[in-house]
Amino acid sequence: MVKFDFFTYSKSFFNIEEYNSLYNKKNYYIEKLKNNAMTAWTKEIDNDLVSEIKTTAEYIKNNFDCLVVVGIGGSYLGSYSFMNAFKPYFNNQNFEIIYAGTTLSSKYLDELLIYLNNKNFCLNVISKSGDTLETKITYKLLKDALKRKYKEEDLAKHIIITSDKQSGSLREEVTKYNYKSFEIPKDIGGRYSFITPAHLLPLAINYNIDLIIDGYYDGKRLIDEAYQYAIVRNLLFKKGKVIENFCIYEESLSYFTEWLKQLFGETEGKNELGIFPTSTLFTRDLHSIGQFIQEGNKILFETVINIKNSKNYIEYQGINLNSFNNIIVNSVIKAHHKGNTPCLEIEMDELTLENLATLIYFFELSAAFSGFLFDVDPFNQPGVEIYKQEIKKSLNEEF
Ligand code: PA5
Repeated sequence: MVKFDFFTYSKSFFNIEEYNSLYNKKNYYIEKLKNNAMTAWTKEIDNDLVSEIKTTAEYIKNNFDCLVVVGIGGSYLGSYSFMNAFKPYFNNQNFEIIYAGTTLSSKYLDELLIYLNNKNFCLNVISKSGDTLETKITYKLLKDALKRKYKEEDLAKHIIITSDKQSGSLREEVTKYNYKSFEIPKDIGGRYSFITPAHLLPLAINYNIDLIIDGYYDGKRLIDEAYQYAIVRNLLFKKGKVIENFCIYEESLSYFTEWLKQLFGETEGKNELGIFPTSTLFTRDLHSIGQFIQEGNKILFETVINIKNSKNYIEYQGINLNSFNNIIVNSVIKAHHKGNTPCLEIEMDELTLENLATLIYFFELSAAFSGFLFDVDPFNQPGVEIYKQEIKKSLNEEF
């Protein structure tokens, strides 16, 4: 179960009439969302596809030592954030999944190639466009490593491509070499692609994706809350709160906040508008950036994502440490609110696959509404394309 309180510690910062006036436009924006061509992520995933994902996950587990996922941005953050949220902090016995393609660090890639030398590994290369530079370079290096270990005719056993159905160089590879492949639908953009094989295949290896899928669609009932959250953020932005700080108290959610940054940053950051998303891990960052939040420039608001109950019981001087943590969460919200920082609250009763997946859908919905409120297209990312083109141009000039 997830709960929200967007008002207690924020309502004094905006005008309730303005809120109501935007709230009255809810049905207009719901219709706008329904009629948008890029919202296939709100539609039910096909059962046969889910079965195929599970079968492929079994194939990977039964035949390899590890899986290397190659992808960047919306092609990795969804599954990566989930894995980090649920893997044990210590003594991780899960099937090994390694991520690559998010940087072109020679150190990382060289050490990865050395590490993979003695491993029988499988590659899942994920790119909707099929042409992203980081992904292409990493794929080439890893494919060359496979070629050094296996016969040409055996490579197809080790390579799974997830990409657009028709276009891009990855799809050409599938056609040319008959690689196993999955599709990222045309009508789902990268950062909204959680409910596609791009994320469900890596997740199916260690987790029950039926629970994840159920949790995700459970988010549909939160359409009203998603719209409320979008309005409150928009009104706070208009009052000069141009930064949203996602606060967590559980370190394993650190990549979930990275996913949030991508979702909101790429959705809203257009036409010189949008809220700059950032994140802090508390209580750690209360001892650093907490000073700025309390007494510095009043340009930010906070969205606190708290997990109310922990499955792990630890006692400290007769008190459940988890209750202690909840007291800290509330106290920090009160203190920051006193320091003129509006605080919005999102609470999971527990950290479960279903709850986190529900939040994914909730945030996707809210980001889409927010894009509409900013009057920008929530589903494109022309700015990301500009840097990609600039790199291509420079590379052509250099080589
Ligand atoms: O949200 C987006 O669309 C982007 O962040 C992409 O996911 C990212 O640029 C990677 O693109 P691709 O999947 O085409 O390799």
